[in-house]
Amino acid sequence: MDFRLTEEQRLIRDMVREFAREEIAPRAAEIDRTREFPRDTFRKCADLNLTGMMVPEEWGGTGLDSVSYVIAVEELSRACATTGVIISVNNSLYCDPVQRYGTDAQKERWLKPFALGEKIGCYCLTEPHAGSDAASLRTLAVREGDTWVLNGSKVFVTNGIAADCAIVFANTDRDKGNRGLTAFLVDRDTPGYSIGKHETKMGITASGSVEIVLDHVRLSDEHRLGAEGEGFKVAMSTLDGGRIGIAAQAVGIAQSALDHSLSYARERKAFGKPIAELQAIQFKLANMAVAVEASRMLTYRAAVAKDSGRRFSQESAMAKLMASEACVAATREAVQIYGGYGYINEYPVERLYRDAKITEIYEGTSEIQRVVIAAGLLKGE
Ligand code: CAA
Repeated sequence: MDFRLTEEQRLIRDMVREFAREEIAPRAAEIDRTREFPRDTFRKCADLNLTGMMVPEEWGGTGLDSVSYVIAVEELSRACATTGVIISVNNSLYCDPVQRYGTDAQKERWLKPFALGEKIGCYCLTEPHAGSDAASLRTLAVREGDTWVLNGSKVFVTNGIAADCAIVFANTDRDKGNRGLTAFLVDRDTPGYSIGKHETKMGITASGSVEIVLDHVRLSDEHRLGAEGEGFKVAMSTLDGGRIGIAAQAVGIAQSALDHSLSYARERKAFGKPIAELQAIQFKLANMAVAVEASRMLTYRAAVAKDSGRRFSQESAMAKLMASEACVAATREAVQIYGGYGYINEYPVERLYRDAKITEIYEGTSEIQRVVIAAGLLKGE
């Protein structure tokens, strides 16, 4: 076992770290305040080839391994959690399933421009009445001659405000439960596709989370991603990858909480000395550092498992569970270290605390990660 990054992974970390520090971090508070989807930062990420990192070069990507990808998401999220999730969704929830389940013709049209970052993708699974119980979704796709007609609505769609194409999961056979779902590629300009409510959120305020409404959206079979009835497998295997991206986002936010706490603790004086000299503060810093490092290791391990080609649901659920809960705890402690100033939005830890919470909810709540982990344990995986 070798815990060192490769030369290439180190170069990517250093490049993204510098880019995030110079270009993204100075914008983070403004992005949070204005709540406007940061198209300009997405474009800059595209210029650095961060929008299709694991996609082979022939389809517009960078062809890197998953560890390089999680390093990049961590570094971006350390600067701005909104930017981190936007890039994670484009890579993991959009490009990855199109690459794995798409035909060559679909990849030419729906992968290349998205991996290049010329276009933005999103993933539509959740519905008003189907969140954790994803198989109970109600969006219907009915065959009419040689077309599919889709009706339904999807909610909390990250990137939805800006997305050029959505992967939509719909029910094509209501009698078959999770084996009756099918995935479709739906372009933004398709008649009947519209953007509904734009959510106002507690954190990651500018990631463009919207409702997407499908009102008699007509699609030919060339829009079907994967086989008919294979949609649940497409959705779940995609989330296995997505959860690694969210774990990386959580590591980045938690690392940022530690960075800020360290520098504040060195500067702030109480009882005649910097608070960094108080054991009460030192214990918090030590606990944060251990949790960040343990989360990072589980995230790297899940990324390596993904690249091994076998199913990695367990590793990915463990990484997301550990990293998201560590992230919420670390940001809470950062606010505590800052005291009253931590509660004020002039200081960055207030934003970090708000951004952290979603990592325990989206792409499967912590409770769902425990369900996935326990199911694997009981199967003897
Ligand atoms: N890979 C491949 N196949 C999988 C799979 C995976 N990861 N997980 C399940 N399957 C297959 C199973 O093998 C099984 O196949 P068979 O019927 O052939 O045996 C089938 O799918 C059904 O599996 P389960 O019985 O485990 O399914 P379930 O209905 O009990 O659901 C669940 C399991 C873990 C609760 C799942 O529904 C789940 O993960 N729910 C959470 C959904 C979620 O994460 N939503 C987030 C949406 S995205 C988002 O957050 C928005 C955003 O924009 C960021």
